[in-house]
Amino acid sequence: MKSLPHLRELMAKKIQRRRFMGALGALGFTYQPFLRPLPQQSNEHLLIPKGFKATKLISWGDRLSDGQSLCFPISSAQEQLGALGYNNDYLAFHPLTSDANGRANSGLLSINHEYTNPSLMTPQAKKDSDPLLSDEQIKVDMAAVGHTVLEIRRVEGMWEVVWGSRYNRRLSALGPKMKLSGPAAGHPLMKTSADPSGTWVIGTFSNCAGGITPWGTTLIAEENINQGFYGRLEGQYADDHRLMGIGHLKTRHPWHKVDSRFNINQEPHEPNRFGWIVELDPTDPNSVPIKRTALGRFKHECASCTLSKDGRVVIYSGDDQEGEFLYRFVSKEKYLPKQKEHNQNLLDQGILSVARFEEDGTLIWQDLVFGQHGLSPEHGFNDQAEVLIHARRAARIVGATPLDRPEDVEISPKTGKVYVMLTQNKSRTQASPGCERVPNLYGHILELSPNMDDHAQQKMTWTPLILGGPKSQGGTQKGNGWIKNPDNGAFDLHGRLWVTADAHSSSKDSFGNGLWICPDEGPERGQAQRFCTVPNGAEPCGPCFTPDGRSLFVSIQHPAEGSTWHNPSTRWPDFRSDIPPRPSIVVIEREDGEVI
Ligand code: FEO
Ligand code: CA
Ligand code: CA
Ligand code: CA
Repeated sequence: MKSLPHLRELMAKKIQRRRFMGALGALGFTYQPFLRPLPQQSNEHLLIPKGFKATKLISWGDRLSDGQSLCFPISSAQEQLGALGYNNDYLAFHPLTSDANGRANSGLLSINHEYTNPSLMTPQAKKDSDPLLSDEQIKVDMAAVGHTVLEIRRVEGMWEVVWGSRYNRRLSALGPKMKLSGPAAGHPLMKTSADPSGTWVIGTFSNCAGGITPWGTTLIAEENINQGFYGRLEGQYADDHRLMGIGHLKTRHPWHKVDSRFNINQEPHEPNRFGWIVELDPTDPNSVPIKRTALGRFKHECASCTLSKDGRVVIYSGDDQEGEFLYRFVSKEKYLPKQKEHNQNLLDQGILSVARFEEDGTLIWQDLVFGQHGLSPEHGFNDQAEVLIHARRAARIVGATPLDRPEDVEISPKTGKVYVMLTQNKSRTQASPGCERVPNLYGHILELSPNMDDHAQQKMTWTPLILGGPKSQGGTQKGNGWIKNPDNGAFDLHGRLWVTADAHSSSKDSFGNGLWICPDEGPERGQAQRFCTVPNGAEPCGPCFTPDGRSLFVSIQHPAEGSTWHNPSTRWPDFRSDIPPRPSIVVIEREDGEVI
């Protein structure tokens, strides 16, 4: 493993804290020492360690056709649909072409857009669900979420966007039309007045993390879909909607004002068509995205893909809410390399299971199969489609273990162990296996070891890798550089786990969200090292390494969140009075171009 020379140097000289104000001009990147022994805090800039460089690739509102920035506030949904969406989250890199050394020199970035912050996007909105928003502003909001496919290439060693590429594409809450497939497609609970067949749906939103399949498609997770729905029901559907957080007269996105399908009193089945994993082929700009219902419906954080020993597809997904569960899907058929036709429907058949953690360190996957473990008419389930649509209710019946906001899941390419990031659980009143802190304010990372190294086995073992936060609060990390509230992860070329933090810091406790290296092996196991810090109010998402390990793409989501258009807590990355703070994607590389 290549070590980081400046880090060794810093440690040897016992330099306490140095600030390298080598800011990269208007982009607001400030150099910091790699280890930050002093209190953790953020400022208006993106702070990266000495010896690294950060380059901005694209920002919210940059037109995909020519790279020109729109004027702010964005005045029409049509304009927003032609530009990068807001709050970029998950990133996946799909290599297209390689240079003479076999290193990717062009590729496609798959980019999720999770939600919006209207109070930072327009001067009119005083808060993020301001009722004063005009109809067109509401449509801009709908156009700003979803997904972007972007072609990028290396020119003279630097990654840049291929503006106007035929691959560049946007998905949003406004469209396109997507297919519903798998056991729940066509079920009566999936039918609406616009779609009496229950087999297609317009758009996707609340797209948080995701995954990438061995056959090159992107898996897009639909997470907090409750934020798109308005209304309150009584009777038949109310309990199931309530379990997903739906049924309120206050909603983050007031979309029901321009589209009645987001009003559950008018379309009670519409929410059943969201909360799925969407599969997208980014290499075909005309491909129809497909919602794969076999993977279950809940607040999917991610869809992390690997293979079982016998070649079946295994997908792990956290349901990111306090007290919700960890799920696993195992396909019925095996993945066959280079057999596109066979692989393209692999995610329509298989078994969805949910994790039960035992006190002795065992984890048992409980299958969510109609007719088994009480998933029968006496518990309100009439078929497999209902088990999948109401996966949260089914999981409770089979005895799943409530967790502390399961977010991303990462699988070590070196050891095959599985890492589950649990952000926090402020409402926990009772310990449960795998989640011992009551309440859990700082989050933790669990390590799962599949029996016989096989991801399809019914049993695994679990052990904590890191308990977040300071030692004084029960954390397991030495020193002051600790991580808390872990969210997204990625493995680098060396097999090291990198993890982002998503702490909602107030201005008084500006912890400074960032990215940490979290060793899972050796003497430093579990001792996280802060790598970078994002600007005030921001959260880093979707860390993604190129296959050559030299470039790290990171989403900088919601800079200045918690403040407003008129008084933002940072104007990153433009630092211009006529441009609001903008969620952006950056590329971090070593200055010497070597593997990170
Ligand atoms: Fe969208 Fe669970 O973070
Ligand atoms: Ca997340
Ligand atoms: Ca998050
Ligand atoms: Ca966030």
